[in-house]
Amino acid sequence: MEEVAIIDVSPRDGLQNEPKPISTEQKLKLIDMLVNAGIQNVEVTSFVHPLKVPQMADANDVLQALSDKKDLETIALIPNLKGYERAREHRLTEVNWVSAATETFNAKNIGMSIEENMSQFLKVLDEAKKDGIKTCFSVAVSFGCPYEGDVEEEKVLQIVRRVKEAGVDRIGIADTIGIATPDHVERLMKKVLEIAGDTPVAIHLHDTRGLGLANAYMAYRAGVRIFETSASGIGGCPFAPGAAGNLATEDLVYLFERMNISTGVDFQKLLDAADYAASLSTKKPLGRIRHVENQREKGNAV
Ligand code: COA
Ligand code: ZN
Repeated sequence: MEEVAIIDVSPRDGLQNEPKPISTEQKLKLIDMLVNAGIQNVEVTSFVHPLKVPQMADANDVLQALSDKKDLETIALIPNLKGYERAREHRLTEVNWVSAATETFNAKNIGMSIEENMSQFLKVLDEAKKDGIKTCFSVAVSFGCPYEGDVEEEKVLQIVRRVKEAGVDRIGIADTIGIATPDHVERLMKKVLEIAGDTPVAIHLHDTRGLGLANAYMAYRAGVRIFETSASGIGGCPFAPGAAGNLATEDLVYLFERMNISTGVDFQKLLDAADYAASLSTKKPLGRIRHVENQREKGNAV
């Protein structure tokens, strides 16, 4: 049976932009429910500036509480060396380094040029190898930028080539504003996978325009086997105003399981996690499957 791996990013991407305070306990409960549903890889927090993203100010507490949690590979997003210094204090599987494919997005998101960011990443990569922490390099706005518009493929591919040569453990390609179309996904992901070779490649999808599942399917057809999604489709980037939520994990699981592609996830338990994620969010959840299941649970023939 074919398999795909899911990284649920709801505790980080899903919650980072929420205006009302969400307690560390609530975040831990969400993580616990995801793990209970069989999701092994969770992006649990980010080590960023607490004034820029107040919702992630409790990153230390979240990782501290997870230090002996079994069945969970913890991933934390970091944007710079300082983020790595904070993250390395904890037991975690992977740091997800973020850079954008465009200068304007990088300037707004992390206050650095692509080149400055790359040189910091190369230092972190050396340190992480010594510390036994895996690295992922994620390229934000790979399919389009809210500030610069279209993004040339070559800009993304140049970054991918450099991090592959440097020995990164995983490469992430992100559709931060949910602007990708399936043909674009197919074109770009085939080229990324070719450069990546034996280095795993993930796609990070948002469902802003309703194309998340179509893009996920096309990425799968192109050879991608790791998907970053968020329970209930909560989320959005504070530095991409108006960008809606991530592709919903339960919608992706439904798609693949119906196609007999194993996700390793217990669908009913995932729906519970998605309901809890939705209860933490002030936004209307983007996931579709939950609504259908509600109808079925009421006995309606859908
Ligand atoms: N965590 C906490 N504090 C940090 C930090 C980090 N990762 N990086 C820098 N700082 C602190 C510095 O220690 C310094 O503190 P001081 O004023 O007390 O001396 C201050 O921030 C300024 O440092 P500087 O290196 O100039 O950083 P900056 O102000 O340019 O901010 C980022 C850089 C990346 C930390 C900031 O832009 C940020 O947090 N962006 C959020 C990115 C994000 O989460 N996006 C959404 C997901 S993609
Ligand atoms: Zn995202």
